[in-house]
Amino acid sequence: MVYGEFITKPALNLAKLLAKNLPKNLNSTYFTNSGTEALEGAIKLSRRYTGRKKIISANNAYHGSTMGALTLMGLDERKKPFEPLIPDVEFIEFNDINNLSKIDNTTACVVLETIQGSAGFIKPKKNICI
Ligand SMILES: Cc1ncc(COP(=O)(O)O)c(C=O)c1O
Repeated sequence: MVYGEFITKPALNLAKLLAKNLPKNLNSTYFTNSGTEALEGAIKLSRRYTGRKKIISANNAYHGSTMGALTLMGLDERKKPFEPLIPDVEFIEFNDINNLSKIDNTTACVVLETIQGSAGFIKPKKNICI
């Protein structure tokens, strides 16, 4: 239950464990049923918290199949049949430091896979410094 009507001990223990091991200000956990649903929550939370609209994702990314998560997919041909998608989403090239200039003070969030799975399991380059 994502609304917390029924709190289970394993979920509570996991939330406590996360809070204990994450930086102090990351002390709230919102459990979801799927990765797609987590993405939808992240999109909404970032827009609400920042009051900004722009979301940045990466070319060839996969984030799920709901309308928001689908919009962040970086594969145009797979999105086309579902247009119009959500507005104000821009794309950068994974592992290309020059693209980071697209992140500005209108950006609500940047969504990246830790390893780009669907794109062929592309790992982030090490030692990229800004
Ligand atoms: C990076 C990434 N985000 C989101 C999802 C969607 O997760 P789910 O299938 O649990 O909705 C996936 C699924 O493969 C994924 O690889």
